[in-house]
Amino acid sequence: MARVKLQGLSKSYDGAVAVKGLDLEIRDREFVVLLGPSGCGKTTTLRCIAGLETPSEGEIYIGDRLVNDLDPKQRNIAMVFQSYALYPHMTVYQNMAFPLENAKVAEKDIVRRVNHAARLLQIESLLARKPIQLSGGQRQRVALGRAIVREPQAFLMDEPLSNLDAKLRVHMRAELKKLQKDLGITTIYVTHDQVEAMTMGDRIAILNHGELQQYDTPRRVYVHPSNHFVAGFVGSPPINSIECTLTKGGVLDAGDFQLAVPDHLQSGIENAVSEELLIGVRPQDVEVLRDSTGRPDCIAAQVYTTEPQGDITILDLTIGDRLVKAVVGIAFDAEGLSGLSVRFRPERILLFDRKTGKAIG
Ligand SMILES: Nc1ncnc2c1ncn2[C@@H]1O[C@H](COP(=O)(O)OP(=O)(O)OP(=O)(O)O)[C@@H](O)[C@H]1O
Ligand SMILES: [Mg+2]
Repeated sequence: MARVKLQGLSKSYDGAVAVKGLDLEIRDREFVVLLGPSGCGKTTTLRCIAGLETPSEGEIYIGDRLVNDLDPKQRNIAMVFQSYALYPHMTVYQNMAFPLENAKVAEKDIVRRVNHAARLLQIESLLARKPIQLSGGQRQRVALGRAIVREPQAFLMDEPLSNLDAKLRVHMRAELKKLQKDLGITTIYVTHDQVEAMTMGDRIAILNHGELQQYDTPRRVYVHPSNHFVAGFVGSPPINSIECTLTKGGVLDAGDFQLAVPDHLQSGIENAVSEELLIGVRPQDVEVLRDSTGRPDCIAAQVYTTEPQGDITILDLTIGDRLVKAVVGIAFDAEGLSGLSVRFRPERILLFDRKTGKAIG
């Protein structure tokens, strides 16, 4: 069994906190993504699990073993870095065989394991080449192969796709996800790319300033973000955030418009400690209507600019002096339109406490 468990993991460098009290349990065979902005502590967490950094506090378990005092070698994990760090003077075969030779694995097992990994990664025809004779994507697969041959208890991957061009990254994302499921090896994968996290992870752990913000499935993180930071980090284009005040009459007053509190937030709002709130509505949940039909839930908006993307268009709209983005389908023709109206789908509206950022409801 290769569950990985972090308990109160903290790491400081000369008093500066990189990771703060992190509790995280990764189930056997699970693909968990650590997601967050630059400097939030992703790599530090991974390096602590690998044994390349010593935690300032907390326990790390791999399987049922407490590994805090074990060397990286004894932890039976394989790490794939952003820079593939292949040995330039060795062939692809030698690069993949190297960790096994180091571990004194029998020659015939080395041959079997390298060939098996090469077959999985479709690099059998490249085994005799040197890294310099490979494309970026091929090198990336060799680096993965070198991790796979070790048959570790867990993979730790630090932005392994970030050196690839956009198209190859999308391709490798699917390949890697499939491979992880086929191999059934517990994987912790670091990225700052929310699309990568959403598409690949069974669960996503979102970090900010070294602290865990939310740990949940991609769907839950998207639909029920625990706070405003998570809501803003996940989803593209980013969620619209609109400051408002909860009036005594129980209405959300944004200045330029007012909204009724949606049904699903009624009970949450009763427990809200502050009236100073943020409305969060994703551009996909902003309905655009060509004319204001006089419906009370419609808000007048002006077209600021349009961002066609082929299958969809992002409409940049102004409501008063606020900019709000809406996603419309290919059939929507904004040509010549200036004024229109929008409706925030009430069942998709989110509310946050403006001070703490915490989700209401
Ligand atoms: N060896 C070190 N000495 C001092 N500070 C460090 C060291 N390594 C990391 N830090 C600091 O710890 C914090 C977390 O760094 P970390 O590398 O874990 O971030 P990250 O989330 O991986 O970011 P990125 O997405 O840019 O790779 C940062 O503020 C960084 O400056
Ligand atoms: Mg990093």
